Amino acid sequence: MEFIIAESTEDMSRRAADRIASFVEADPSCVLGLATGTTPIGLYACLVDDCAQGKISFADVTTFNLDEYRGLDPEHDQSYRYFMKKHLFDHVDIDQARTHVPEGSNPDAEAVCAAYEQAIEEAGGIDLQLLGLGPNGHIGFNEPEDTFPKATHCVDLTESTIQANSRLFDRVEDVPRQAYTMGIGTIMAARSVLVVVEGSHKAEIVKKAFFGPVTPEVPASILQFHPDATVIVDPAAGALCK
Ligand code: F6R
Repeated sequence: MEFIIAESTEDMSRRAADRIASFVEADPSCVLGLATGTTPIGLYACLVDDCAQGKISFADVTTFNLDEYRGLDPEHDQSYRYFMKKHLFDHVDIDQARTHVPEGSNPDAEAVCAAYEQAIEEAGGIDLQLLGLGPNGHIGFNEPEDTFPKATHCVDLTESTIQANSRLFDRVEDVPRQAYTMGIGTIMAARSVLVVVEGSHKAEIVKKAFFGPVTPEVPASILQFHPDATVIVDPAAGALCK
């Protein structure tokens, strides 16, 4: 695992965007795993700029997002499909038919999850998976548990995640209680993994996840065993790891 403390939050975003851009440059038809959340917004803005300047093209890229709320339509402004369109897909030359987000509007969890795993397999697997880190160590919506969930599945969100996400909804009651998420096995099967983390509120969990014991109680800790994982944090998130 490579652990990098960037010079600033902007530097974290630029470095992460450069990693993604060099993947796409090396293999224009690569398969990217993408994340939502506050942290990747800056790096998506960098990729949008790179694309506008003709430095990078997503024309042949395929993408799979980590997760989606169960029960939200893709048009809902808090759905992860909406987020991806707003921050990336609508501003680059990607073929939207090649972008995949679990089908949140379909309540048939078994069908949605099996179809997602199958689609990833048919695409040849994920070349580079981008991840953020939840305040409780979650990746995707894989929350602290007794075991590492393997494949894409439906999860009950923890109270802390519901509270953390409620800032984006009008009322906490509006936050969906379930989500579809890639499993830890799905994430670990990606050929490369790139994690971005920002903010002093993540400093403690960064230390635990990447320098503490590997345990399903801190789901991201499994990434210490990934053969090609890079973690880029801003100075505040890396403050306890110097
Ligand atoms: C998003 C996701 C989540 C976030 C994590 C960090 O698709 O799967 O695991 O990456 O909750 O979110 P932010 O960046 O908002 O702190």
